[in-house]
Amino acid sequence: MDFELQPLGLADAAAGKAPALVVLVADGFVAGDDALSALIARALGSGDFKTEAGAQLFVYGAADIAPPRVVLAGIGDGSAARVRKAVAAAMGAVRGSPAKALTLCFAQPTDAAALRAAVLTVADASYVYRATKSKPKDKKEPPRVARVLIGAPDAGALREPMQQAVGVARGVELAREWANRPANHATPAMLADAARQLARLPRIACDVLGPKEVGRLGMGAFQAVAQGSRQELRFIVLRYDGAPKSEAPVVLVGKGITFDTGGISIKPAPEMDEMKFDMSGAASVLGVFRALAELKPALNVVGLIPACENMPDGAAIKPGDVVTSMNGQTIEILNTDAEGRLVLCDALTYAERYRPRAVIDIATLTGACVIALGGVRSGLFASDDALAQALHAAGEQALDPCWRMPLDEEYSEALKSNFADVANVGGRPAGAVTAAKFLQRFTEKFNWAHLDIAGTAWKGGTAKGATGRPVGLLVHYLLGQAGQPAPARPGPAKRASAAAKPGARAGRRQG
Ligand code: BES
Ligand code: MN
Ligand code: ZN
Repeated sequence: MDFELQPLGLADAAAGKAPALVVLVADGFVAGDDALSALIARALGSGDFKTEAGAQLFVYGAADIAPPRVVLAGIGDGSAARVRKAVAAAMGAVRGSPAKALTLCFAQPTDAAALRAAVLTVADASYVYRATKSKPKDKKEPPRVARVLIGAPDAGALREPMQQAVGVARGVELAREWANRPANHATPAMLADAARQLARLPRIACDVLGPKEVGRLGMGAFQAVAQGSRQELRFIVLRYDGAPKSEAPVVLVGKGITFDTGGISIKPAPEMDEMKFDMSGAASVLGVFRALAELKPALNVVGLIPACENMPDGAAIKPGDVVTSMNGQTIEILNTDAEGRLVLCDALTYAERYRPRAVIDIATLTGACVIALGGVRSGLFASDDALAQALHAAGEQALDPCWRMPLDEEYSEALKSNFADVANVGGRPAGAVTAAKFLQRFTEKFNWAHLDIAGTAWKGGTAKGATGRPVGLLVHYLLGQAGQPAPARPGPAKRASAAAKPGARAGRRQG
């Protein structure tokens, strides 16, 4: 989709050639002496239209207004959240029409947050999943909004937020697309190909490791999950080089379970199809790199994606099996359905080699997080307060919010094992927290945060589909980091007190 920003008053909008025009009207509207102003004033006066967010009026063929379709949409106080609500409602009306181009204009001066919300909501509403639908016989695809002109009276000041929003929108779209694809159209090898495609973009490079290399690295936990599947695992390494090599990167680690049956601890049948979304963390990493290529911040970023299926099979891991992770810790797999933390822990150990300024993992990790926070906020866990605050703020800014959860040492009790250094599950209580405590054992060497996106990465029901979250949060965080001095890495005190007993390092081979 093409986006363009123009300085536009209501008189210009009324004279424009767009087949559809959406006008966002905030509280306190004062009419000028153009036809569109007159229409808005009349609609407000009659009570058929209000400026409250969500209220809208569709007008066809209004006199002296060139665009045949006009949607008046109320945005209340003009805040980003209200704009999002209003534009989502208005897009419902536009989508049903044959219009392929759209002008969306603010009737009054607006700000960066509201503009970004408008762009992202238009992009979100115009995304159509097509990858596995047959082409209509007459080759005529249903119309899809392809060109969007955003008009605002004060466009000059909004150029930068506009670019940002367009970059994020492209990233969100890519993340949605890959998360939506079914597991037989999004295998680990196909995800790796998608990452290689990204490496054609400026400043991006990609390396893909297969089963042999992963074995040589000693990633015994990751290998254990993959061993029950006919699909070979892939370990995807993406790099965005936006700053000198000497600058420590931010590392993003995305859970890439392309399908989660639960393995031998198999999941119940209802809604199991939704476990194709269990690579949404990985998809969000792909999306972030797409946005980085567009926005080119002065920052280094590494993306790590452990990708495999979790299947029941004669070769699959069994409850009680003990495996050895890349940093030497042994893990008793009490439940094969707690596979996300197994693939992530080895990716986290791999992240050490970058001496990163921060590591953020993104994972559809626990059903317990869905119970705790639903689909509104992602779960945020962090060992570092500054990192937690930065991610929280980025989420608010991007309308992609998260909420900090605890990491008290007492929660680790639940992970004690009689047969290994750690068990891969606690009990049902605080399931999202004990999962995070498991991951934390692999993060002593760097500042770390974990986003549990089990509730926010996709929607179920009739609107079933990926949301592209938390691409917005992550991109905002990264843009905020560009040009900032790297924060201190955890000191020796913290390393000494960590629960883990690091054993043998890379180089060991799993049998
Ligand atoms: N991918 C699931 C988590 C999940 C479940 C996300 C439902 C979204 C909706 C994860 O691999 C999993 O199965 N977690 C288990 C952990 C349990 C066995 C400790 C869970 O949440 O039930
Ligand atoms: Mn699982
Ligand atoms: Zn899973």
